[in-house]
Amino acid sequence: MNILVTGGAGYIGSHTIIELYKAGHTAVVVDNLSNSNPESLRRVARITGSEVPFFKVDIRDREGLDRVMGQFKFDACIHFAGLKAVGESVAKPLEYYENNIAGTLVLVQALRDHGCRNIIFSSSATVYGNPEIIPITEQCPKGVCTNPYGWTKSMLEQVLTDMQKADPEWNVVLLRYFNPIGAHESGTIGENPNGIPNNLMPYVTQVAVGKRAELGVFGNDYDTPDGTGVRDYIHVVDLARGHVKALQAIERKCGLGLYNLGTGHGYSVLDVVRAFEKVNGVKVPYSIKPRRPGDIATCYSDPSKAERELDWKAEFGIEEMCRDSWNWQKNNPDGYPEN
Ligand code: NAD
Ligand code: WQD
Repeated sequence: MNILVTGGAGYIGSHTIIELYKAGHTAVVVDNLSNSNPESLRRVARITGSEVPFFKVDIRDREGLDRVMGQFKFDACIHFAGLKAVGESVAKPLEYYENNIAGTLVLVQALRDHGCRNIIFSSSATVYGNPEIIPITEQCPKGVCTNPYGWTKSMLEQVLTDMQKADPEWNVVLLRYFNPIGAHESGTIGENPNGIPNNLMPYVTQVAVGKRAELGVFGNDYDTPDGTGVRDYIHVVDLARGHVKALQAIERKCGLGLYNLGTGHGYSVLDVVRAFEKVNGVKVPYSIKPRRPGDIATCYSDPSKAERELDWKAEFGIEEMCRDSWNWQKNNPDGYPEN
């Protein structure tokens, strides 16, 4: 299939393109580069041996999308483009609603008008809010999000669901990612946050490489085995492969699909620090800090629906995730070079 990948220069998108090519698909990327560097795509091309056509286009730009969709015929779209910083979304809610929601509306109208009614959407475990059931199944009701970023995901799930109901020609797969970490085994592509990392693993790797003095552990008084927050970390390559499986569901005309993509295992912050130190033989100094507002104690998936229906299961464990995150960081201490 020929796939339009929005946000393909970013962290998950770049890894997914590699898995698409490995599975015999081709891709075209649109990205406005607001949170990425085109060097990621040059490195992807080195890994796949194929140049991926890239267009610096904002998904809110209908004319720009029309130009790309006029030039290529797409069988499906994998829609990664969006802003994703939780804290920033609290400070700039309108920018997040405009970029993520308005952008997706422009995108799906353009797809429809160009005759492509197949889309995979990057949703998030954040839509469960403080989950009612652990491990979290897809039956668990969506919850109250604690920030505008989370609401954009929750609302867009509703938009895409309503769209598919109204026009069953659409195949829509909503993928709720848990906590993606890790990097491609080559160590040439990975997560490249701007400024101070918000997420745990990039912070850990930046401490390990000496860019930051110590990790702040946000709270050790949660109701968890060691008091620190528990999450379902998933290797980004496993996550990428989940998209290839979701494309097969689209080929089978799945209609509406909704899947958790996680490993089903919960690890605490201190479990991650210890695994990282052990696998990589480096120290990660830390100190306990107050809880971070909006955080929940425990969040991990029941991923069995994706295994049953998509024939997808995460294969990498926490040690491989820590090894590959470090391999990327130590080979690229400053991320991608600025152009
Ligand atoms: P990322 O920031 O690395 O990639 C997103 C890409 O989208 C970036 O390259 C950015 O430049 C691009 N983009 C943003 N707005 C755009 C617009 N208006 N037009 C065109 N391009 C635009 O993030 P990621 O970690 O690769 O996440 C990919 C998707 O998965 C996002 O939608 C994110 O919300 C979702 N997600 C991420 C996580 C996570 O922890 N990384 C978890 C759950 C869901
Ligand atoms: C993990 C654990 C922190 C940083 C976020 C978004 C979610 C999704 C994934 C996109 C928590 C602790 C973290 C640090 C720490 N993104 N921590 N020190 O909060 O589970 O999820 O990213 O959809 O929407 O909310 O991930 O990596 O920020 O935190 O102690 O410096 O690590 O408190 O327990 P989170 P995270």
